[in-house]
Amino acid sequence: MEQVRESGDFAIAFDHVTKRYDGKETPAVEDLNLAIRKGEIFGFLGPNGAGKSTTIRMLVGMLRQNSGTITADGFDNIVSSVGLKRCLGYVPDEPVFYERMSGLRHINFICDLYGVPQRLRKERIGKLASLFEMTEVLDDPISSYSHGMKQKLGVIAALVHDPMILVLDEPMVGLDPRSSFILKDVMREFCRKGRTVFFSTHVMEVAERLCDRVGIISKGRLLFEGTLEELKLRKGGEDATLEELFLQMTGQADVAGLAKRTEEVLE
Ligand SMILES: Nc1ncnc2c1ncn2[C@@H]1O[C@H](COP(=O)(O)OP(=O)(O)O)[C@@H](O)[C@H]1O
Ligand SMILES: [Mg+2]
Repeated sequence: MEQVRESGDFAIAFDHVTKRYDGKETPAVEDLNLAIRKGEIFGFLGPNGAGKSTTIRMLVGMLRQNSGTITADGFDNIVSSVGLKRCLGYVPDEPVFYERMSGLRHINFICDLYGVPQRLRKERIGKLASLFEMTEVLDDPISSYSHGMKQKLGVIAALVHDPMILVLDEPMVGLDPRSSFILKDVMREFCRKGRTVFFSTHVMEVAERLCDRVGIISKGRLLFEGTLEELKLRKGGEDATLEELFLQMTGQADVAGLAKRTEEVLE
């Protein structure tokens, strides 16, 4: 039998993971092998429909893979799903809330789920709310929050049980520049303490600024895993931006063609 990757060195490991949605011929994720090291910020990049959210939803236990194994902090996502959920915080691409609850009630509800002791809550919630500049609105109903505020509430709720791994699906979408700056800072600080961040994005600039390593996925297949420098070397273009390399690699590099089409449409 094939040796499964030694999970001890990795925060997250996907081993030959395939996911096929019912009724679909081509898999959304196909034979994914990917390992995220402890202490790194790993950016999962890919165009729309590449399989990023599918991968993340399997990791956090919302979807089950058809084959292969997924571990986080040594916990298998199927046989040890509770242990796995306990060690990670997850910010979904579209957070869903009970809109009539206040932000504070939502966070307390999450604390109940994860068994965060009462004596730790107040201080932790206070610090996180202040960091994300949410203190003043915490008692307001979530229905009154903007998209960005909901996103920040989602991040606070993901961090409040003090996880070892933070998983975020397109976290910068809908955040204003200041909130986005704060979140990037939090992601960096989180890793400085030996913890791990795994996040998806299609915003190349974010990845370029933030990531220790990246993975590029397109049509369910991983095309690259490594540092940005390695990507540039592989593609032989030291001066190329990540955006150019990304478009090249995912077969979308027909930028001249796109510009021409735009010109024609807007004529
Ligand atoms: N619930 C679903 N049922 C069927 N197909 C899905 C479902 N969710 C996603 N897909 C398909 O799986 C592929 C990958 O989607 P997704 O993981 O959402 O990509 P990404 O997050 O990279 O944009 C797409 O072809 C998408 O249409
Ligand atoms: Mg997605």
